[in-house]
Amino acid sequence: MGKVYVFDHPLIQHKLTYIRDINTGTKEFRELVDEVASLMAFEITRDMPLEEVEVETPVRKAKSKVLSGKKIGLVPILRAGLGMVDGILRLIPAAKVGHIGLYRDPETLQPVEYYFKMPSDIKEREFIVVDPMLATGGSAVEAINALKKRGATNIKFMCLIAAPEGVEAMKNAHPDVDIYIAALDEQLNDHGYIVPGLGDAGDRLFGTK
Ligand code: PRP
Ligand code: URA
Repeated sequence: MGKVYVFDHPLIQHKLTYIRDINTGTKEFRELVDEVASLMAFEITRDMPLEEVEVETPVRKAKSKVLSGKKIGLVPILRAGLGMVDGILRLIPAAKVGHIGLYRDPETLQPVEYYFKMPSDIKEREFIVVDPMLATGGSAVEAINALKKRGATNIKFMCLIAAPEGVEAMKNAHPDVDIYIAALDEQLNDHGYIVPGLGDAGDRLFGTK
């Protein structure tokens, strides 16, 4: 069964408060999402495998460690997932980036796929799917369905704020996928928004409404 990790690091929690704040404007919102994505990437990569290599320092040769194992594929769910990409790439610059375009139909709340582009070696990669919000879970579940359909087998999901309903939906649909979140909120409202949440992540990131 996939595990759910809630990152309680003080820096993440502090920045998340300002991300939630209605008075935080687009520029600051974007910067904060970028920073929190970086901090979360630091935590999510904690169990990455290492291998020993030899390095020559100015003093002598030494044994030291470098990352080994699978190559990373970073997959933002458009649009709002884009806000998390640069922060993660700063720590994992060798990652390749795939994109999945999904929007939630405002009437049915069902995800509609409009774009899919991945690195060609999809079976070889460990994927981190990112989206600031896990609300009903429809978008994340569908994004991961789309990845699995094309051969991905190793997938993590990372978001800023999740609703219990979304976590449940993910656990049911994708029990093999670990979920990394900065905060688990109370519930969804009648419009499928996370309460208290942060509002519409895409609109706040890109200044649309
Ligand atoms: C938001 C958010 C997630 C989705 C979460 O995107 O970024 O992708 O809603 O909701 P769910 O868990 O109920 O599917 P939205 O559909 O508003 O599209 P946008 O990023 O293009 O604004
Ligand atoms: N999408 C958002 O952007 N915010 C929510 O609260 C739910 C879905």
